[in-house]
Amino acid sequence: MRLIVNGGTYEVDVEPDMPLLWILRDELNITGPKYGCGIAQCGACTVHVDGTAVRSCQVVAGDLEGAEVTTIEGLGQPRSLHAVQQAWIEHQVAQCGYCQAGQIMQAASLLSMNPDPTDGDIDAAMSGNLCRCGTYPRIRAAIHAAAKKLQEV
Ligand code: FES
Ligand code: FES
Repeated sequence: MRLIVNGGTYEVDVEPDMPLLWILRDELNITGPKYGCGIAQCGACTVHVDGTAVRSCQVVAGDLEGAEVTTIEGLGQPRSLHAVQQAWIEHQVAQCGYCQAGQIMQAASLLSMNPDPTDGDIDAAMSGNLCRCGTYPRIRAAIHAAAKKLQEV
């Protein structure tokens, strides 16, 4: 099948029921998305498919022909980070970091749909992204900061 990931086109020879997370990590060596639970319960594997946040452990190859996938590696560039990535650095959000790629991808998707979320909006949108290190207060603060930054642009 043909898959577009972070702007590049890839041909991969996989079974139709192979989850996207495995394609990314094992076939394409794109390791930002993490395996946490494999059953849509943690959010560590979150990427964007055609601009929407999805759990890549639950989306299978057969549903992805021609789809555009974005991972944390393609959200911004080292010299021009996405506003969410920049806010994450400024608020020192990450602790162990394992959940953070998923958190950032979920947050970016939230802001693309809701540019000025309330605390309640943030908590609702991020409730499926678990963080064992308990970085939730900094995640919320960083999302508010990124929203403000994006509104200035
Ligand atoms: S690994 Fe996909 S939601 Fe946990
Ligand atoms: S930063 Fe450690 S699990 Fe979230």
